[in-house]
Amino acid sequence: MCGIIGFTGQENSVPILISGLYALEYRGYDSSGISVFGEDGIITKKVKGRISNLEDKILSEGNLYSECGIGHTRWATHGEPSDVNSHPHFTENLSLVHNGIIENYAVLKKELQSEGTAFLSETDTEVAARLIDREYLICRDPLKALNKALKKIEGSYAFGIIFREYPGKIFTARKNSPLLIASGSIGNFIASDIPAILKYTNKVIRLDDYDTAVISKDSVEIYDKDGNASTREFEEISWSYEIATKSGYDHFMLKEIFEEPEAVLKTISGRIKNGIPNFSAEGISSERIEKVGRIHIVACGTAMHAGIMGKYFIENFARIPVDVEIASEFRYRNPILNKGDMFIALSQSGETADTLAALRLAREKGLYTVSVVNVAGSSIARESDEVIYTLAGPEIAVASTKAYTVQCVVMYLLALDIAYKGKRMTQNEVMLATEPLVNEVSMRLSDVLGFSGYVSDICRRIAECENMFFIGRGIDYALAMEASLKLKEISYINSEAYAAGELKHGTISLVTEGTVVAAIATDASLWEKTCSNIKEVKARGAYVILFCGDNIDVPEGICDSIIKVPHIDGGLSSLCVACAFQLFAYHTAKLRGCDIDKPRNLAKSVTVE
Ligand code: G6P
Repeated sequence: MCGIIGFTGQENSVPILISGLYALEYRGYDSSGISVFGEDGIITKKVKGRISNLEDKILSEGNLYSECGIGHTRWATHGEPSDVNSHPHFTENLSLVHNGIIENYAVLKKELQSEGTAFLSETDTEVAARLIDREYLICRDPLKALNKALKKIEGSYAFGIIFREYPGKIFTARKNSPLLIASGSIGNFIASDIPAILKYTNKVIRLDDYDTAVISKDSVEIYDKDGNASTREFEEISWSYEIATKSGYDHFMLKEIFEEPEAVLKTISGRIKNGIPNFSAEGISSERIEKVGRIHIVACGTAMHAGIMGKYFIENFARIPVDVEIASEFRYRNPILNKGDMFIALSQSGETADTLAALRLAREKGLYTVSVVNVAGSSIARESDEVIYTLAGPEIAVASTKAYTVQCVVMYLLALDIAYKGKRMTQNEVMLATEPLVNEVSMRLSDVLGFSGYVSDICRRIAECENMFFIGRGIDYALAMEASLKLKEISYINSEAYAAGELKHGTISLVTEGTVVAAIATDASLWEKTCSNIKEVKARGAYVILFCGDNIDVPEGICDSIIKVPHIDGGLSSLCVACAFQLFAYHTAKLRGCDIDKPRNLAKSVTVE
């Protein structure tokens, strides 16, 4: 969704803002803009469409040099994507960029209109700009004006603001929308997300909700929720700039799939001691786990599918009932939550608004909350009792791949940890289960990556179809859901995932000559049944692609194409199949000429409900 970058220092801010905006592109956007200090006030350039449109506009309108400015990528919520609705929004005195939603914007707008204020756009953000401006005209003090306006604003915000009469300074505020301050050798920055500043520095301070701050080229002042000056330490981010670039791959998505073997090793490193999962550094203790009677896993999108994998692992190993739910549903259905229950929030970004709200609800009800998050210091991480970081490194492509894989790995380990602490598995059984994770998974994932070209050949047939099905049983059904989501997200092929045994209760009516059905079979104990379901669709003319473990004995003629992955014990072949169907989605989308890293209408981090 929307992205913010701001810079003040001793270099031209324009290319720095543009490079920051490019680094934020992955979040999804439909317009972009910048405001910088010019000789006679603030200059704003903003335009609908790609950042390259903004660059063209800046270039065609003359030389722009300024050592301080703010920039924004907008993902439309209030008002269509257009030049006028894009950020920054400006008045005579200030220019402002905003992430989040001003919930009471309609009331505030009416109030301002009744005083004679005119509006140019349909956005909630312009209301904030004009409200701050009104206060500024009274006191001529940017921070005072900002604080006064914030008292009236309901909703979520991360603001970056420059005032005409305060050149070289950027004012900020945050509530329920991430914002950080970064410091580098060329100056200081504000940003909504780490990749925006990685090219210049890795030293950041993450602002807390209700903080306000002012930065100039050589100072950073932060004020807490009571308006008191607050000293914060800079933390050093371990992500490098290179990791946030394509490094020769055609797309971030492909690069990120190829990073899976390493991401798995990093994620398990230090978390298995003598064959036993160890989350003591994360604070997950036997005392807490022993009391757990029920587990709620809540997430959105791909993370929710990793949650379903977690349900299979936990129920299988620890025999504790697990509910998995989509965060936006969980919140509004008055869920039955008991104090002893454990709540697990899964989120790559750690900022998904619905997941965050569900977590807050769980905390309010006194549940033990654990989050599995990829972005250090993100809101979900900060608000959970304990956090387990997936160490996938930054994931830039909108479609999640390596983050999903390591979420599944963490769920596998956590399931074993819960089983061991709850005395549902012996030490020996747990050691046997962690052994393939330590010794095989990363290597076998590399094997799967080795047949990317073979997968691409199979995709030629798929690239021409407009509908397909994924089917599977048990854990393979959980995989089918993610395979289907991955394909539709980036290739725009309509696909549905079905429990293989359920197809015949209605949907098989859609299977006719040539319908593509991908079956997933890693669980040998269910193969016979899945095989029967494949025969059912084959008998109706389906074109069948089989994703299976190499331990499965596949009868002649059962499928038209086969993608065999190495078998790994303990349900871990699922990770190899995941890697294979991610490649499958990637190559299909590529053959169809889709915008793989930035699929239409999607955003990487969904910070609105
Ligand atoms: C968006 C992304 C998905 C992602 C989901 C949850 O919809 O496009 O790829 O799975 O959000 O995001 P999270 O950051 O919470 O894992």
